Amino acid sequence: MLNKHIVVLISGNGSNLQAIIDAINTHNIKATITAVISNQANAYGLKRANLAGIETHIIDHTHYATRKLFDQSLMKVIDQYHPDIIVLAGFMRILTSDFVMHYSGKLINIHPSLLPLYRGLNTHKRALEDGATQHGASVHFVTPELDAGAVLIQGLVVVKKSDNEKTLSNRVHQIEHIIYPQAVKLLVNNQVELKANRIYINNQYLQQPKQYRLENN
Ligand code: GRF
Repeated sequence: MLNKHIVVLISGNGSNLQAIIDAINTHNIKATITAVISNQANAYGLKRANLAGIETHIIDHTHYATRKLFDQSLMKVIDQYHPDIIVLAGFMRILTSDFVMHYSGKLINIHPSLLPLYRGLNTHKRALEDGATQHGASVHFVTPELDAGAVLIQGLVVVKKSDNEKTLSNRVHQIEHIIYPQAVKLLVNNQVELKANRIYINNQYLQQPKQYRLENN
């Protein structure tokens, strides 16, 4: 099997990027991250990439008059690497349909909620305000509609009475670091296919996302 190439897009801390780097370093995922791209020059994830010897690029969205021009510039850099998989790991930009369609079936994102619940921002706050008893994160294929693509894996955490946004988000991050490398591994191993916004794992239609629970929650 040829070594798969991954490009990761970030905007911030990059702890999910780190989880994927670690899974590659321990040979749990047999692939190479060929580039990390950030729209924020000060993203800590760029340091993580440098430490791991991965090429980095900064493409500052504020330098572009329109979303379309920014996305075109992003595509140009990504396509130099001919990636098999593009991983959004805390990339805080809404992408144009043209961008999303260009990478259809190989563009994945992690969103901090149990989709279809709480699309968009402030997910932990909204879950707490609703008195949700469980919360978590979802890895999904990216489609033009925001946070609406087919979900591959979800990580579940129990919401405690004592939780605040910080404590809840910490536990969601913990489960993210488990499920995101697993999702990437499934793609790297050619086990996942997206057809007509439906996911097939080993040629079997996935009726429900795979689910993991945070242990010792
Ligand atoms: C994660 O909570 C992810 O679900 C969301 O952005 C956050 C990124 O965190 N899309 P990090 O930069 O990977 O630490």
